[in-house]
Amino acid sequence: MASSTAAAAAVTSLLPPPVGAERPVPQGRLLFRASRAGSRPLRLNPARHHGLSPAPRAAKAVEAGKADPLNVMIAGAPASGKGTQCELIKAKYGLVHISAGDLLRAEIATGTDNGKQAKEFMEKGQLVPDEIVVNMVKGRLLQPDAQEKGWLLDGYPRSYSQAMALETLGIRPDIFILLDVPDELLVERVVGRRLDPETGKIYHLKYSPPENEEIASRLTQRFDDTEEKVKLRLQTHYQNIESLVSIYEDVIVKVNGNTTVEGVFGEIEKLLTSSLDKKTEMTCR
Ligand code: AP5
Repeated sequence: MASSTAAAAAVTSLLPPPVGAERPVPQGRLLFRASRAGSRPLRLNPARHHGLSPAPRAAKAVEAGKADPLNVMIAGAPASGKGTQCELIKAKYGLVHISAGDLLRAEIATGTDNGKQAKEFMEKGQLVPDEIVVNMVKGRLLQPDAQEKGWLLDGYPRSYSQAMALETLGIRPDIFILLDVPDELLVERVVGRRLDPETGKIYHLKYSPPENEEIASRLTQRFDDTEEKVKLRLQTHYQNIESLVSIYEDVIVKVNGNTTVEGVFGEIEKLLTSSLDKKTEMTCR
């Protein structure tokens, strides 16, 4: 995983411009400038941040790129479409999808102590304590399939301390996708969401209705998918997102999540394909 740091060098088009230089933002692609990060200054020299001068960093990326698959983090407010996009990304790029929320719900379903504790926090729309979440996600991330195929981390990290737990292991994404959806749409998305327990597919009664009656009859709803709870989850999201922006600002890209599912995926596809191309380029140099 040490190669994750070097691999971040491969996405140079996502890096902020050098001090004093203005670079136009490519159409359909907004760099998140951490405007809400307040006291945290923008980090303008990622190479220095990682303790490597540009030359060794590039050399390391070449070496790393040979064996390194794509590593992606996806974040966004509750119901911004993370899970929906992850299904599509997984299908196209073959990455291992690791959803912190799904791992926690699996613990709840099997009735473990961690699951019982986690549920108390999830019902309040709060973050489950690090003692439960961090090792659970790290353990999954370090399994051979995620290392070999690349990973797609969904809903982790969600706080500064969770991100630092990965940073200390040298685990960084090639790209951090932040889905942007206006708050007023999120309640409707949450309340109308349904899940197929057999296939795991995510539906929405209005926007992605089930294909037939048989599927419709077996759909379930999440215990935290109520209007009251989504408001609490949203608060928790805003309390934490800025610390992540400051940690990942060299690889973060904000994507408009307020278009069709296909439209959002089209944007993500361009970004991931470009990241992959750059990795391959680095490998061939
Ligand atoms: P988690 O399960 O991750 O929930 P979340 O972050 O609130 O996100 P959601 O799963 O609700 O939404 P999503 O963005 O995946 O949207 P989806 O694609 O389903 O976490 C649950 C809880 O676990 C947290 O509150 C916390 O307590 C705990 N937890 C999780 N991670 C943790 C961590 N790292 N640390 C501590 N605690 C943690 O889409 C939503 C709906 O919208 C669907 O119906 C879908 O069909 C529809 N939809 C999607 N895209 C579109 C579109 N473009 N247009 C119209 N409709 C759309």
